[in-house]
Amino acid sequence: MSPVPHLPLAELGRLLQCDTPPPSASTQTLAGWKMERDDAPIFSYLYRQHQPRRHLEFGTWQGFGTCLCLESCAATVWTLNLPDGEAKFDGSWAYGERVTDESQSPSGAMRVNFGQDEAGPRTYHRTDAASYIGRLYREKHLGHRVCQIYCDSCIWDTAAYPSGFFDSVLIDGGHQAEVVISDTRKALPLLRTGGLMLWHDFCPLPDVIAAAPAVQGVTAAIETLRSELDQQCSALFWIDPSYLLLGIKK
Ligand SMILES: C[S@@+](CC[C@H](N)C(=O)[O-])C[C@H]1O[C@@H](n2cnc3c(N)ncnc32)[C@H](O)[C@@H]1O
Repeated sequence: MSPVPHLPLAELGRLLQCDTPPPSASTQTLAGWKMERDDAPIFSYLYRQHQPRRHLEFGTWQGFGTCLCLESCAATVWTLNLPDGEAKFDGSWAYGERVTDESQSPSGAMRVNFGQDEAGPRTYHRTDAASYIGRLYREKHLGHRVCQIYCDSCIWDTAAYPSGFFDSVLIDGGHQAEVVISDTRKALPLLRTGGLMLWHDFCPLPDVIAAAPAVQGVTAAIETLRSELDQQCSALFWIDPSYLLLGIKK
């Protein structure tokens, strides 16, 4: 199978057939890349140009990506997250942070206390569970445009959604290859012709893949799915530089 083609970021407008130029590429190396700083302008551009009315996002976390969509267009966003957060293979939390100022955290957070040290109480919050899920869109008073779904995406029942219901989809939930494969296979029939399919944490460069387990999972999934994607997408490109794979549904 041939490698996924690269699309220079500067040519994204041409692919989307729009006159507005894309944002300039970040000057960061991909090794030091941050979604919130370096991919966010690309996401906003895609949503502004595409103007989805119904957007689906696998993996809400605190709602940063959902806000990018909500603030770039008039879409309603359907988004899924595990209600109690993701666990690593050893049972530890995939997303947690030490909290020193409880007043900055949403009430009802899942927490663990490990006593005290010189910096104060050693309190950790699980940031992809309970009231942390989607906190950013709620804090921005955008919750009326979000349908939050609390479940494991692998057992999400899509039967109630007509085919072609969504204008765009972002796959950014569990990054294990089997989860990305399952999410992609659920999403593709729900995406309309001409709709945008986005996968976050995709990058085909071997040094980036070697350094990031999340990228390893997504890249392996895309390799497995490749012939299905080639059949169902009129375009499939890695946006260079970014951690984004873009497909356009046939
Ligand atoms: C990388 S974060 C999502 C980031 C978010 N899309 C953003 O742009 O801010 C991945 C999220 O997917 C959730 N997740 C992991 N596995 C999942 C699964 N099988 N079903 C639903 N959500 C899952 C995690 O709890 C976590 O909140």
